[in-house]
Amino acid sequence: MSTDEQILGRLAVDDLEAILTTANTEVDEAIHAVRDNADAIFTWDYEKGARPALSKLYEKAKHSQWNGQTDLDWSIDVDQQQFAEMMADMQKMEFDARGVDFSGTPFENWERPEWVELAHEVQNWSLSQFMHGEQGALLCTAKIVETVPWIDAKYYASTQVMDEARHVEVFAKYLDTKLSGYYPVNAHLKLLLDDIVTDSRWDMTYLGMQVMVEGLALAAFGFMHQMSTEPLLKKLLRYVMSDEARHVAFGVLSLQEYYEGLSDAEIFERQQFAFEAAVRMRDRFLQQEVWERLGVPVKDAIEAVMLTPTRQMFQMMLFSKIVPNCKKLGLLDRNDGWLRRRYEEMGVIQFEDWVDTGDEYEAFALDNAAPATA
Ligand SMILES: [Fe+2]
Ligand SMILES: [Fe+2]
Repeated sequence: MSTDEQILGRLAVDDLEAILTTANTEVDEAIHAVRDNADAIFTWDYEKGARPALSKLYEKAKHSQWNGQTDLDWSIDVDQQQFAEMMADMQKMEFDARGVDFSGTPFENWERPEWVELAHEVQNWSLSQFMHGEQGALLCTAKIVETVPWIDAKYYASTQVMDEARHVEVFAKYLDTKLSGYYPVNAHLKLLLDDIVTDSRWDMTYLGMQVMVEGLALAAFGFMHQMSTEPLLKKLLRYVMSDEARHVAFGVLSLQEYYEGLSDAEIFERQQFAFEAAVRMRDRFLQQEVWERLGVPVKDAIEAVMLTPTRQMFQMMLFSKIVPNCKKLGLLDRNDGWLRRRYEEMGVIQFEDWVDTGDEYEAFALDNAAPATA
């Protein structure tokens, strides 16, 4: 597997028409079954601390459990309209400052109420996708408990399973009780989650989930945490981020050791997967379901709004945790820098020397005043 068509199922990475043909056609299904092809591994080597970094992370996790039911103040009255108005006004200021011209686009005649409605939908959509991604993390980490051969990693992963249950729980509750709508899982996110669960190799679960999906989530939560003035969501995100930083560290610390021992051919498969995952996550942020729900022609809307420089900058920021972590794992530069070239083409390579998340979790801990977002 080495051509884009084999990796992504389309000839050109940026072919918007092809991206949009990927849609979730099973929006009414109550469950979604995916074949998990991995072996469940027992280990008879119970020596705790054989991998000191993972053991330290496990001890840290035991002291960092919070309760989504009681540590968050659910009595707070959330005014989503006010938030949507603020977001819409900010967006307008940005468009004006950049001289964005909407003539000839679906937004030509949009006034403030339409932009406010869009902001409502975007928030409902974003939180819904976070919730679905969290369930993906819950399943993947349960899978890691089964498949990873090291006892320290099984111990740590078991704490992450609890963390992820809490994350699904709080996002679902926020959506249900504080927001105005829900979206099914985005097709690109679903494709990626299915791929991660299906793969039989234990390290691919880590690479797909802990490094790629959670790396992106950490950046996205950080952005939303900075933007949000609503105290319940702000605290919820702060709590979730303190866990996510540990999860990403778990991925980097586990894979570093393992990848040093892999052949170039084996690493190439991981590089291709890291490329595929990056493209799927970029595609998901085109939020095609939002445009559909608003009755706006999807391709035109994406070209007018999502491909503007401001939006592109946000899209790239989402990769600020992933790229340095891939570098630390040797994935950028092995095989003559194959993944480096792909990330260059995607316009995200500039993050390669940003702080990797292997030890950043201390900065995100709840007993520290402020997380290093961005
Ligand atoms: Fe999570
Ligand atoms: Fe996580």
